[in-house]
Amino acid sequence: MSDLIPPSPSEEAYAVDDDQGEVFTDQDPFALFAEWLALAGKKEMNDANAMALATVDADGLPDVRMVLLKDVDASGLTFYTNAESAKGVQLGAVPKAAVCFHWKSIRRQVRFRGTVTPVSAGEADAYFKTRARGARIGAHASAQSRPLERRFALEKQVAATAAKFGVGDIPRPEHWSGYRIVPTQIEFWVNRPFRLHDRLVFRRENETAGWTTEKPYP
Ligand SMILES: Cc1cc2nc3c(=O)[nH]c(=O)nc-3n(C[C@H](O)[C@H](O)[C@H](O)COP(=O)(O)O)c2cc1C
Repeated sequence: MSDLIPPSPSEEAYAVDDDQGEVFTDQDPFALFAEWLALAGKKEMNDANAMALATVDADGLPDVRMVLLKDVDASGLTFYTNAESAKGVQLGAVPKAAVCFHWKSIRRQVRFRGTVTPVSAGEADAYFKTRARGARIGAHASAQSRPLERRFALEKQVAATAAKFGVGDIPRPEHWSGYRIVPTQIEFWVNRPFRLHDRLVFRRENETAGWTTEKPYP
């Protein structure tokens, strides 16, 4: 095996692997997720709200990248991005996504699958206002995912945007908005010794149906 791959844990390491006790402590998946995210927020060195977002393009070829979760409640998971980016175009063609959180510090993973809808203009405006001025300027200046010939071109766009708005308000650009993933499947996973991990899957027929649960083999 390549030297680049870290070795598997030894028998001893497995033996002392942390026993986290009961972790599936709520029957409501959003409440359970909130609990795990709060714990991860205390333990992760940064960005406990970072999630890998998987989309597919019009040909069915998957794509994945990290984004930041900005809101979560029973209506779904919200993130913000450029609607003209690769992910925005993919979601326009196929409004379905999966996300995965992995928190190394607590050795847990949570996965969501579902449909995706754009947030309202009002909701996007309200969130945009909370962003740092520099980030608001960046949202105007960056043609996210499109080819950038030179870094200088981006810097020029940033300077031009800053000059255009001066000290005034910076409105949300039309192309920058949020998406809400409304899950029909949520899986909670916790590391257990010898890779005999614990998994709990919540499923529902559609976005308004009740949840059923299943515990699959690891
Ligand atoms: C930890 C982390 C968080 C990120 N959060 C976001 C985000 O919330 N929104 C976003 O548009 N890009 C975010 N990015 C950048 C994306 O991963 C990606 O590079 C960018 O959105 C372009 O992706 P696309 O070309 O597939 O659309 C983040 C990257 C990292 C590493």
